[in-house]
Amino acid sequence: MLIRIFSLVFIVFFFYSCQKEISYIVKEDSKKELIEKGQKAVAIAFTSLSTQLKDEIANSGFDGAISFCKVEAPKILYDASTKAMANIHRVTDKPRNPKSLANEKEMEIINNYISLQKTSSKMEATLIADKSKVTFYSPIKILPLCMNCHGSVNKEVSESTKEILNQLYPEDKALNYNIDDLRGLWKIEFSSAEEHIEQVKD
Ligand code: HEC
Repeated sequence: MLIRIFSLVFIVFFFYSCQKEISYIVKEDSKKELIEKGQKAVAIAFTSLSTQLKDEIANSGFDGAISFCKVEAPKILYDASTKAMANIHRVTDKPRNPKSLANEKEMEIINNYISLQKTSSKMEATLIADKSKVTFYSPIKILPLCMNCHGSVNKEVSESTKEILNQLYPEDKALNYNIDDLRGLWKIEFSSAEEHIEQVKD
């Protein structure tokens, strides 16, 4: 009888503790430092990417710069990642390269920025923690230069640019943007960041 009671107590306790899910948050004291690090990584990546893109446009026009983007953009981000000691990526709800599709959590962040933008509120960076990694996200907006390859066909995007895009990216969703639209997110991952992470039970 006693054993039965004990087992019952154990089972109830077991299920109760299972319901309490563990989640992870960034320590309050670490937020400022990580946001600064994220912003620095974005500055390194953006400067490198836009300088080399502009050079390529000057050398071989927008059409030539497309294949440059396809081949070189990942390499440039890889080099910038080494410099910034963090993993640098870009994600979006409307990808040109299907590898850049945002996951479910990132879609939430994107939608949140879109609503903030509608009310002209400030779009602060977002920090997400898991067990050992902190990920920094900040918005990427469309600038006038971007319109030549991300605007509307026959308006900012020429017919020949569209043709090359069709060949290289048959499932391209990254057209028809306007200046200032949210194009996606910078995603900066800091791994082995346990010192900045706190465990909480929901
Ligand atoms: C010369 C044409 C060209 C210009 C100009 C250009 N892009 Fe792109 N963009 C591309 C191509 C091509 C890709 C796909 C790269 C790849 O295969 O990873 C891309 C990919 C991206 C991505 C990654 C997500 C995805 O959809 O694959 C973002 C974000 C992005 N561009 C933003 C911008 C912004 C912001 C600007 C302006 C500062 C800009 N682009 C200017 C051609 C261009």
